[in-house]
Order: sequence, then C-alpha cells, then structure tokens
Amino acid sequence: MTFYDEVGGQAFFADLVSQFYAHVATDPVLRPMYPDSDMKGAAQRLQMFLEQYWGGPTTYSEERGHPRLRMRHAGFHIDRVAHDAWINAMRKAVDGVEIDAAHKETLWGYLEMAAAGLVNQAD
Ligand code: HEM
Repeated sequence: MTFYDEVGGQAFFADLVSQFYAHVATDPVLRPMYPDSDMKGAAQRLQMFLEQYWGGPTTYSEERGHPRLRMRHAGFHIDRVAHDAWINAMRKAVDGVEIDAAHKETLWGYLEMAAAGLVNQAD
C-alpha cells in the first residue's frame, strides 16, 4: 500500500490542494504570483503532482512531462517572504485535512524540504 492509498487517495489530495488554494486566493504575497484566469488549472497541476509523488496515478507526468520543479519555478520570484507565505498557506491546509500524526509528519517534512529547495532569490 502506498502513502497515497494510506492517506485516502485522490479525495485526500483534492481536499488538501483545495484548502491550500483557498489560502493562496486571500494571501497578498501569493495571490499575484498565480495565474488570475487559471487558478483551477494551477490547483489541478499541484494535485496531480502530489498524487504522483506519493505513489498515486502518474497523470502529472503524462500531461506535463518530467516535474523539474526547480526549473518550473524559475520564472517566479521566490524569496524568503514568498517561501514563508507558501509554507503558511500549506501549513493551514495540512492542519485542515483529516490525517493521522505519523503521515502528517512525513508529508510536512517533504513539503518543507521541497519548498526550501525552490527559493531562487537571496534575501
Ligand atoms: C516555495 C514556495 C513556492 C511558491 C512561491 C510557488 C509558486 C508557484 C507558482 C506561482 C506556480 C504557477 C502556478 C501554475 O500555473 O501552475 C507554481 C506551480 C507549481 N508548483 Fe509551486 N511554489 C512553491 C513551492 C512549491 C512546492 C514546495 C511544490 C511541491 C511540493 C510545488 C509544486 C508546484 C507544481 C507541481 C506546479 C505546477 C508545475 C507545472 O506543471 O507547470 N511548488 N508554483
């Protein structure tokens, strides 16, 4: 059984990502970074990516190719402030979904590590 199955599959990731984007939508730092006309698409891309990462369907790579997240974020100005805003929005989402403590810790550890690796502007 994969992590994806253990946490509840697609329904879990849909809930997580929809909560995350609800926070993005009201965040003054993050909101302007995301495509005005395609928030639904942005949510779909993140959801597909996370599902694939945790052992679910590989739809992300079928539709988008190799993730190469660092390259895909190069066009966005990700400094400490943007990083912290993203982490805060994601923290609220992770705290808002149904998940047991052990899985939550695993998920959160990954998200923190991944976010730190995407900072592309020095302070
Ligand atoms: C460090 C703070 C971060 C910021 C400010 C940020 C910002 C953004 C923005 C503005 C987009 C474009 C939205 C779109 O149209 O798809 C995006 C895309 C994306 N982000 Fe992030 N991001 C961050 C961290 C992360 C992390 C930690 C992950 C993964 C765990 C991630 C995964 C993705 C994915 C999968 C996409 C869509 C890539 C594609 O297929 O085009 N991001 N991000």
